Amino acid sequence: MFFTHWQLIKFRDGRRKDPQMSPFAANLSDDDMADLAAHYAAQRPQPRPAATDAAKVSAGRQLAEQHHCVSCHRPGLTGHEQVPRLAGQDLAYLVKILRAFKAQTAGDLDGTMTTAVQPLSEADIENLAHYMATR
Ligand code: HEC
Repeated sequence: MFFTHWQLIKFRDGRRKDPQMSPFAANLSDDDMADLAAHYAAQRPQPRPAATDAAKVSAGRQLAEQHHCVSCHRPGLTGHEQVPRLAGQDLAYLVKILRAFKAQTAGDLDGTMTTAVQPLSEADIENLAHYMATR
C-alpha cells in the first residue's frame, strides 16, 4: 500500500488531523483512496525551489547518517511503499511534520517516526529539513 493511502485513512479516521485535509478525506471511499494514492505515486517528483543554507545541508547530511534515517527512507531518501519519499519535499512541511512527530501529534502509523525524532534538537530538525529539501 502506498504512503498516501495510509495518510488518507489516518485523516479519515482522525488519527492525523488537519483543518483542510480532514474534511476532504472524510468523504473518500477506500477505492477513491487507493486510486488517488496510485495516481500520486506515479508522478515524477519535481524539484521545489527552496532557500536552503549550505552549512545546514551539510550538518543535516551527517545527522541523517548518524540517526539511520536512510535505512528506512532508503539511500537517496527516495522512500518505498508506506515509507515516504523525503528527497525534494517542501522545506517548511518537513520542519512542521518533524516537530509534530517530536510532539507526538503527527499520529504516525506505528510509532517509528515518533521514536526516531526524540533525540533530535530543534537545530537538528532544521538541519535535516534543509538536507532533505535539497536532495
Ligand atoms: C524505522 C524506520 C524509520 C526510520 C529510522 C526513520 N523513518 Fe521517517 N518515516 C518512517 C515511516 C514509516 C514514516 C511514515 C509515518 C506515518 O506518517 O505514518 C516516516 C515519515 C517521515 C517523514 C514525514 C514525511 C511526509 O511526507 O509526511 C519525515 C519528514 C521523516 N520520516 C524523516 C525522517 C528522519 C529525518 C529520520 C532520521 C532522524 C527518519 N525519518 C527515520 C520510517 C522511518
